[in-house]
Amino acid sequence: MTHVLSAVAWPYANGPRHIGHVAGFGVPSDVFSRYMRMAGNEVLMVSGTDEHGTPILVAADESGVTPQELADKNNRIIAEDLTALGLSYDLFTRTTTQNHIDVVQRMFEVCRDNGYMVTKRMPVAIDPDTGNTLPDRYIEGTCPICGAAGARGDQCDNCGNQLDPKDLIDPVSKVSGKAPIFRDSEHYFLDLPALAERLGQWLDQVDHTGEWRPNVISFAKHLLKDVQPRAMSRDISWGIPVPGWEDKPDKRLYVWFDAVIGYLSASIEWARRREAEGKGSKDDWRAWWNDPDALTYYFMGKDNIVFHAEIWPAEILAYNGEGARGGKAGAFGTLNLPTQVVASEFLTMEGKKFSSSHHVVIYVRDVLSRYQPDALRYFISIAGPETSDADFTWSEFVRRNNSELVAGWGNLVNRTASMIAKRFGEIPAPGELEDVDKRLLEQVRAGFETVGENIAHHHQRAALTEIMRLVGEANGYISETEPFKMKDPSQRERLATVLHTAAQAVYDLNTMMCVFLPHSSNAVDRVMGGDGTIAPLPELRDVEDLDTCKPYPIITGDYSNVRAWASAEIPVGRPIAKPKPVFVKLDPSVVDEELERLGLGD
Ligand code: MF3
Ligand code: ZN
Repeated sequence: MTHVLSAVAWPYANGPRHIGHVAGFGVPSDVFSRYMRMAGNEVLMVSGTDEHGTPILVAADESGVTPQELADKNNRIIAEDLTALGLSYDLFTRTTTQNHIDVVQRMFEVCRDNGYMVTKRMPVAIDPDTGNTLPDRYIEGTCPICGAAGARGDQCDNCGNQLDPKDLIDPVSKVSGKAPIFRDSEHYFLDLPALAERLGQWLDQVDHTGEWRPNVISFAKHLLKDVQPRAMSRDISWGIPVPGWEDKPDKRLYVWFDAVIGYLSASIEWARRREAEGKGSKDDWRAWWNDPDALTYYFMGKDNIVFHAEIWPAEILAYNGEGARGGKAGAFGTLNLPTQVVASEFLTMEGKKFSSSHHVVIYVRDVLSRYQPDALRYFISIAGPETSDADFTWSEFVRRNNSELVAGWGNLVNRTASMIAKRFGEIPAPGELEDVDKRLLEQVRAGFETVGENIAHHHQRAALTEIMRLVGEANGYISETEPFKMKDPSQRERLATVLHTAAQAVYDLNTMMCVFLPHSSNAVDRVMGGDGTIAPLPELRDVEDLDTCKPYPIITGDYSNVRAWASAEIPVGRPIAKPKPVFVKLDPSVVDEELERLGLGD
């Protein structure tokens, strides 16, 4: 039994999330966490909404509410959507809790006291129209290194280099379209050069494991080639106050300094809540953070790599006192560096980049209001942007739903249960197995190993493809053995054997499907005579802030009761009723309707 931390990127609370977001961080982290639990590990899956920083401030200004009001509204929407998608967070919280603020300030103080936070003056960009400071990502211009247009102030997506906004050629504000004004301001900088050597050793170590995706490790190593101190405070009034700068309310900690600490603060909040419920100790989080044998996986889209493979590990090392300036860890103890940064590529939509501002967007909420959550989970898992960019199209969504989920897996379940209901009314006991029966059962059993290994190594597309191949084998088995023709009383024993074999295959395949399709796995379990609780689902719960009593919703759940990741015998004699289809077939007209909604109809 190993402690496994699933650290899932924190969605910004500046608006509802679209399917590109959940394809990047949401579904992959849930599949992995569900599998790891079924394989017998102690999983802690944490995240929350990312509520500080300029995007929130800008969105709040646009809608005439305070940043906290805007964050409150979107936090609830996002938490509802992620719950409906079945993402099994142990705790999904937010960055405006008092617990988070305290943990962030303690981290900052120890990093500073260890000598890794240095102050210096830097030019900051101001939008000439609003007078507000512009975060790096809100400035665009030509890359000074490769000459590509459309580079952002923090980074050039073309050459991958980290940039400084003042080096951009012809910079313009994304807010007003005008050239920003630069003004000098004092800030705290994370002394990355003093941490670079140790960061490099860590990256070499993880590189040796061969586990990281090649583009992620090479990007991370590339970042270390030329490290500069990086500002960890900002001229902004919305954010976590900088310890020691209480007299400077216009300066706050940089949103990325605070957000990544959320993984730790959410783990601490989880343990505090469990203790309050009488289920554990407030120190239980330490098993994932201080024990060097724990495994920690971080899930995100590729635009987050720099923060998870450089900034966050640097914060950890600074806190631990493991850089060139030495130092010693604070009360959180020596913290574990990431085992793996599992970054996915981008999802496009009908060949276009998602953009909420250009209305090129499909919100999670809209999909869930019209389709089954598992139809979306299926598409993301089998065709998502795992190691290369992927395109979501409505025609592919409908095609995969109808020809794979409905006609493949759904059909296997449905015909197996229908025949059993009609001929036996319960799972029949098998007679002597023939070779054809044994072959199917062996293949399906072997799937636990192949599929499990693929998921453990973040090859989810291959894993689900293999399950679907086995579904095809099982459907082929029924076509070959033709139980529907066995009407004669003399064939009754053979019929029982074939239907038992098919039911056994469905049962094991459904165990594997749990991680990808939790809602429908429960439905399939009911069809096959079970109680429909094999894939635990998350719940949205209204709680109070542990320190301030302010109410907010969290996602949590009890996932201790999962089916083991192994073949198990389907109980003979379970009553089986005439089944209702588990998956909904979609009318092809859905494609045109959806394209119409997107303004892409013809
Ligand atoms: N809010 C960021 C984004 O959507 C992700 C933050 S991940 C965190 O890109 F862990 F740093 F919070
Ligand atoms: Zn460039």
